[in-house]
Amino acid sequence: MQSPARATAIATEKTILCLIGTRPEAIKMASVVRELKSRPGVKVVVCVTGQHREMLEPILRFFQIEPQIDLGLMRPDQTLSGLTARLIEGLDEVIRRISPDWVVAQGDTTSVMAAAMAAFYRGVPFAHVEAGLRTGDLSAPFPEEFHRRVADMVAVLHFAPTVQAASKLESEGIPSSQIIVTGNTVVDALLEASKDEPDWLQGPLDSVDPSKPIVVVTAHRRENFGQPMREICESVAELARKFDRDQIQWVFPVHLNPNVKSTVFEILDQVPNVILLEPLEYPWHVQLMKHARLILTDSGGIQEEAPSLGVPVLVLRSTTERPEGVASGQARLVGCRRDDIIREATRELQLSANGLKKQEHPANPYGDGFAGRRIADALLRD
Ligand code: UD1
Ligand code: UDP
Repeated sequence: MQSPARATAIATEKTILCLIGTRPEAIKMASVVRELKSRPGVKVVVCVTGQHREMLEPILRFFQIEPQIDLGLMRPDQTLSGLTARLIEGLDEVIRRISPDWVVAQGDTTSVMAAAMAAFYRGVPFAHVEAGLRTGDLSAPFPEEFHRRVADMVAVLHFAPTVQAASKLESEGIPSSQIIVTGNTVVDALLEASKDEPDWLQGPLDSVDPSKPIVVVTAHRRENFGQPMREICESVAELARKFDRDQIQWVFPVHLNPNVKSTVFEILDQVPNVILLEPLEYPWHVQLMKHARLILTDSGGIQEEAPSLGVPVLVLRSTTERPEGVASGQARLVGCRRDDIIREATRELQLSANGLKKQEHPANPYGDGFAGRRIADALLRD
């Protein structure tokens, strides 16, 4: 028979299954996992689905996340349906075996939607980190708008990053008792990664001159495949011809999705003054953004990080579920048309050349660095 003290410890122990599929999920779950692990009486099981592989591993290493389970599901150029099918089957078995008190996942990838569905089917409560983001358009971002709606439909706890995201959830009929405004965990991650300044010349940025102005470019959204991605690349090629290397270096860490890589390399490889890089490990990417004068991106996470660094962002999309940065003037929606991108980037660069300085301690509308703590508090409340 167990002693009473031991029996109490077992009775109060909570098991929390944290699911991670892709690069941004690892970055945005890092502070949640760390906080949960620091609390007594909590068993944290980290499961990576392996939706991403090479782009995920360095992030897990950097944040010292050691997954107990790796489903290893990535396939080259995977289809949405094939990946979804593998995820549902794999995650169902994990949830059955671990029988957690909570399943927790962040964002709007296929892994997150499958985690929410598998938890729902097994009757295990699902908690959604970064709940309530909406464009109102199922085709943009595709398929993420669909994924996040599915996740929010079944979630029992919604961790909304902003008041605006919480209002969206309330407008869909989700009771306010199930919504907690936490800030976005990406700010927690960014602050952690900004602590140390690695030696620029000793890493993957050695081909970039930090003493000269830099513009960072990233693009990977599925709805931008094809013509929009071509126009993004053609605009960068044209801008690189317009501003010589002493004026601007155009640095583009290229996503590993073959649909992205093929277009980017076809149009931008060998263009003087454009530096194409492998995906950067997170602290290096943060360093690169810190040194940037401007960022051109269709990434969600980068839109949320840039305000903390005081770097303006031109959003290469027609719509965004992150309107807060646009409202505060830290981001501008420019779409994916070649002429629009060239005009708006030129305008921004002329403004900064005319002495417009970065803000010293800019406010970030997406978070304050304590989101992980608030999320752990809420998960362990009862
Ligand atoms: C996925 C998410 C997207 C998120 C993005 C973050 C979906 C449908 N898409 O898009 O919401 O913004 O991640 O980066 O969930 N690949 C590798 N190694 C990797 C990662 C990807 O080789 O580490 C290649 C593989 O060929 C893989 C392909 O990229 O099949 C596509 O990966 P997938 O996760 O399906 O889509 P992403 O475009 O990465
Ligand atoms: N990022 C990175 N290395 C890179 C490009 C991006 O570490 O080469 C980080 C970036 O700082 C942000 C996150 O990855 O935290 C964004 O991921 P991505 O753009 O792939 O996905 P999204 O946020 O659009 O879902």
